[in-house]
Amino acid sequence: MPKLTGVKKINVAVFISGNGSNLKNLINYSLKKNSKFKISLIISNKSYAKGLDYAKKFKIKKKIINYLNIKNAEKDIITKLKKYKIDLICLAGFMKILSINFIKNFNGKIINIHPSLLPKYKGLNTHQRAIDNKEKYSGCTVHYVNSKLDSGRIILQKKVKILKADNSNKLAKRVLKQEHLLYPKALKKVLINL
Ligand code: GRF
Repeated sequence: MPKLTGVKKINVAVFISGNGSNLKNLINYSLKKNSKFKISLIISNKSYAKGLDYAKKFKIKKKIINYLNIKNAEKDIITKLKKYKIDLICLAGFMKILSINFIKNFNGKIINIHPSLLPKYKGLNTHQRAIDNKEKYSGCTVHYVNSKLDSGRIILQKKVKILKADNSNKLAKRVLKQEHLLYPKALKKVLINL
C-alpha cells in the first residue's frame, strides 16, 4: 500500500518582545485547513512578553533569549533554529536588532512587519511622526530584513487614512487591524518563493 504522507509544511519561527497580537494571528492562520506553514518556535527577548502565553495555549516551543551579550544571544537563537529545523523567521514586534552576520546567515529568510508606509518612518514612534508631519496616510509594511534597519525589499503594504481626531494610539489600533490582514497575505507570497 502506498504511504499516505502529507505535504511537508514550512517551519516558521516568530520573534516577539511584547503583546504578540501578530503572533496570535499568524498562529490562527497556520491552523487553517490547507495552510502551508507551521509555527514551530517562538523566540522572545523578554521573559514577561505577553505573547509568550500563546506558546502554552497552542503548545508551541518557546525560548527566552538573554540579550546581555548579542553574540551569545544569537548563538542561542541559532541553536534553537537548527533544532526545530526552521525555514523562515517572522519578526513581529521584536525590539532587538539582528547582527549583519545573523542576517547574512538567513539571507532572504527573515521578514518583518513595520507600522509605517516604508520607506517613510523607519524606526520607532512611526504614527506620531506621521501625524506630526501632517501625512494623509499611515499604514503598515511587510518586508524582507536586510542589514539596514527597516530597509529590505517590500513584500506588501497597506495604507490607513489618518483622521482629524487621530492620536498615535487610535491610529496604531487601526493600523494593527490591518497588520493582522497583511502579515498572513505577505507570508503566503513569501512561501511561494521559498
Ligand atoms: C506592531 O505594530 C508591529 O508592526 C511592530 O510592533 C507591533 C507589535 O505588535 N513591529 P504585537 O506584539 O504583534 O501586538
